[in-house]
Amino acid sequence: MLSTATFITVLEILAYLFLFFIGLAFLAIVVIYILDITQTRHAIRHNFPVVGHFRYLFERLGEFFRQYFFAMDREEMPFNRAQRNWVYRSAKNLSSVAAFGSTRDLRPTGTILFANCPFPTLGEDAAPTSEITIGPGCEQPYTAPSLFNISGMSYGALSKPAVRALSRGAKLANCWLNTGEGGLAPWHLEGGADIVFQIGTAKYGVRDTQGKLSDEKLREIAALPQVKMFEIKLSQGAKPGKGGILPGAKVTEEIARIRGIPVHQDSISPNRHPEIDSEADLLDMIEHIRAVTGKPVGFKTVIGTHEWLDRLCQLIGERGLQSAPDFITIDSADGGTGAAPMSLIDYMGLPLRESLPMVTDQLRRLGLKDRIKVIASGKLINPAEAAWALCVGADFIVSARGFMFALGCIQALNCDKNTCPTGVTTHNPRLQKGLDPAIKAVRIKNYVQNMCYEIGVIAHSCGVREPRELRRSHARIVNEKGLSIPLDELYGQQP
Ligand SMILES: Cc1cc2nc3c(=O)[nH]c(=O)nc-3n(C[C@H](O)[C@H](O)[C@H](O)COP(=O)(O)O)c2cc1C
Repeated sequence: MLSTATFITVLEILAYLFLFFIGLAFLAIVVIYILDITQTRHAIRHNFPVVGHFRYLFERLGEFFRQYFFAMDREEMPFNRAQRNWVYRSAKNLSSVAAFGSTRDLRPTGTILFANCPFPTLGEDAAPTSEITIGPGCEQPYTAPSLFNISGMSYGALSKPAVRALSRGAKLANCWLNTGEGGLAPWHLEGGADIVFQIGTAKYGVRDTQGKLSDEKLREIAALPQVKMFEIKLSQGAKPGKGGILPGAKVTEEIARIRGIPVHQDSISPNRHPEIDSEADLLDMIEHIRAVTGKPVGFKTVIGTHEWLDRLCQLIGERGLQSAPDFITIDSADGGTGAAPMSLIDYMGLPLRESLPMVTDQLRRLGLKDRIKVIASGKLINPAEAAWALCVGADFIVSARGFMFALGCIQALNCDKNTCPTGVTTHNPRLQKGLDPAIKAVRIKNYVQNMCYEIGVIAHSCGVREPRELRRSHARIVNEKGLSIPLDELYGQQP
């Protein structure tokens, strides 16, 4: 027990400490006041000394408060709470059933609705999703088992535990994992999943000392049985026409080894492949990589102008079907990125709702749709969005940010700052500790399985046996009069 004297002494010390901190706080306010009033760089701080600082605090905190307290379920961008919650719940294998009724406003122009069939497909009549073989004419074609797959995100943009979880999860889900443009890390291979190797403009992982494509390195990568296809990245929805600099500070020994660049030196990604300056160059490059690797080769692009596609298809007609890309990945203008300038993120390129029907129609008209598989990406993170893309003409769906949510991403929008609070895009070991690859791998598997299951539910409700039988007539879009019209009326029949 404390004696009364000791108790009073402790109280006195606490009182002095209290006064000391009050004094310190007062002094700090006086110093901040003087600093604010004497500076002219920030008008708010000069005109409203001390309290002006709250503006910065509230601006920062507003991002978080809006998400948790103020934003409605269907309000936020890039992904609203309803979309994110669907991914979180499916990744945890929690039920996706909801009570009372829809919170989705079905009136705005552009709203997608599916046309249910009066006689939906019975469970016993449902069929498994048909498999599609990509590059049937290649030495080693790829029969892709999953409709829904993981889009390119490089090791570097993503943390090590995130890549490890994706690799293991993709294996469990039997889907492919795209490496992104940062080369092939051991972490991509760890789980044993099918890999799509992406060749970016800097040719990371398959470059020689001058930064040119190295056939020797290509052969080495292609010799790995896990690597199933090669994707030439022409552009990405969030930043078409933008290269980048990887600062020397980020070029650790490990990154340098994986990417094939000198340690601790800045590394420049050109804003296009220097050797691809025309449709003919693109076909040459595709044919070359296919000849060296023996595996399917395609390209990824966001569509802006589209006349070049006419020329590409015409050229394929002249050279023969064997010269065609085995697949085209169409990325939406509103796709994601680790970092990109706002003017490109917000304004450059066409969204998928315009580009996907444009490209699939073009390929169908010229009889190339069976030969060239179409992979769609861009905000297709929930089953209905993916089902829409299948209706329009996609053969496969890929997602990047859907899988980031499945890994635990909370849309803190800090991917470029090394401060990602969930460990998905940070290289800070303390923040990475919360991301356990074994636990998150199971979430990745659940997410893929629940996506595929629920796309199937939509297909059956529309009266077809499986997702790949969905057609434009199965979906409708609300027009400016507030009435819906079928997609085949809007875009035209699939030719
Ligand atoms: C963190 C991050 C890194 C990315 N890195 C690449 C990349 O290396 N190569 C690429 O082609 N696309 C990259 N992307 C774009 C995605 O692959 C995808 O095309 C785009 O985000 C649209 O899909 P989503 O809406 O499902 O995210 C990246 C996206 C994110 C969010």
